[in-house]
Amino acid sequence: MGLRRRGFVALAMAAALVALPACSKDADDGGGGDNTKVEVFSWWTGPGEEEGLAAMIADFKTKNPDIEFVNAAVSGGAGSNAKAILQTRLKDGDAPDSYQRHAGLELQDDIRNGWVSDITSLYDSEGWRDVFPAELLEYLTIDGKLYAVPVNIHRSNLMWFNPKTLKDLGIDEKVPATWSEFLTVAEKIKGEGKIPLAIGPGWTQKHLLENVLLGELGKAGYDGLWNGTTDWTGPEVTEALGVFAKVLEYSDIKSPSADWQPMMDKVVSGDAAFAVMGDWADAYLKGDKGLAVDTDYKVAASPGTDNIFNFLSDSFTLPAKAKNKTAAEAWLKEAGSKSGQDAFNPKKGSVPARTDGDAALYTGYLKWGLEQWQGTKDGSVQLVGSLAHGVVANNAWNAEIDTALGLFIEDGDVAKFAAAVKQKYEETK
Ligand code: GAL
Repeated sequence: MGLRRRGFVALAMAAALVALPACSKDADDGGGGDNTKVEVFSWWTGPGEEEGLAAMIADFKTKNPDIEFVNAAVSGGAGSNAKAILQTRLKDGDAPDSYQRHAGLELQDDIRNGWVSDITSLYDSEGWRDVFPAELLEYLTIDGKLYAVPVNIHRSNLMWFNPKTLKDLGIDEKVPATWSEFLTVAEKIKGEGKIPLAIGPGWTQKHLLENVLLGELGKAGYDGLWNGTTDWTGPEVTEALGVFAKVLEYSDIKSPSADWQPMMDKVVSGDAAFAVMGDWADAYLKGDKGLAVDTDYKVAASPGTDNIFNFLSDSFTLPAKAKNKTAAEAWLKEAGSKSGQDAFNPKKGSVPARTDGDAALYTGYLKWGLEQWQGTKDGSVQLVGSLAHGVVANNAWNAEIDTALGLFIEDGDVAKFAAAVKQKYEETK
């Protein structure tokens, strides 16, 4: 709740201050294209990601045979390269016709800058308010207006392992219940010459950070990190950050993998015992690697986060300066459609943002993933939002956290890191 309150207040103020010139179609200077094509920007190029996008493009083409799909995807997990390129394009007024963003505060900067159009009318004409969960719409609603269409729900707080590796090591074939338990098991794994925890580039380190903090602080403490009610420099967070530092010591942080797929490869090969990664890893392991869940690999909530769902949602926007607005709206309709979501998500390793997806399509890990997501509605599972994937912090604060985390990885100075994050929250909110 606190998160949303912070988001709403900040965003409502931003809206009032800049009066959002791009919110009205009359006020922007986009358009001008002939709508025979639509350029869609994402970061889904890698194994395990592009298959989902390809499936949705195929569905789009059957519905829109006269619109050419221009795939402007830029490689790099979590948009690590794409986001900077997108930023430049948006600043230069060279917007694609639609681009990927996460639901939540990641949209805040774009709205402040007038880069995205209000698409509330599309929600009304498509009847989307009835098919997307109310709590998800809250993350996409700013000052009563909607700015993006959610295509999926991903889960961040998952830990993956290869049961054979743990069996060979004589370790229980399960995810440790707490990070303290992980540290005990990790010592044994290290002693056997294996990497206890595989890690990759900066964003995967932030992904790990959020889930260690969640496991150590629980939902209330974690939520408070993002709305100012949990003190970053207080004793609980200091202790949790200390645990994070210890966990990193049992990772291959000195020679991290280049991205999340090679990081997962270390678990597959048995070089590493565990990896914390979102459920897009399932699509990679079962699709690209041809592995079977529960046999070749296993997954559970990361330590200390049972029955908590750390969510993120990939969403598509209508840029104020999109050249082909009608074609862009056709893409947004695809992203929000039942057939589009049911084509995309089983291949992407996510569950549909819509509540009326065909449950029979979500098998293996995704069956449990869907049950857990649905559990957030009846209260049996608690809902929190991801830091590394744009839900709980705007881009400005997230970038500052990246800088501070980079330094922390070098010097391990908990107090300095916490103080920097706290100060930057005040400066960027
Ligand atoms: C997330 C994104 C996912 C997946 C992941 C790894 O930010 O929401 O769809 O692409 O990055 O690249």
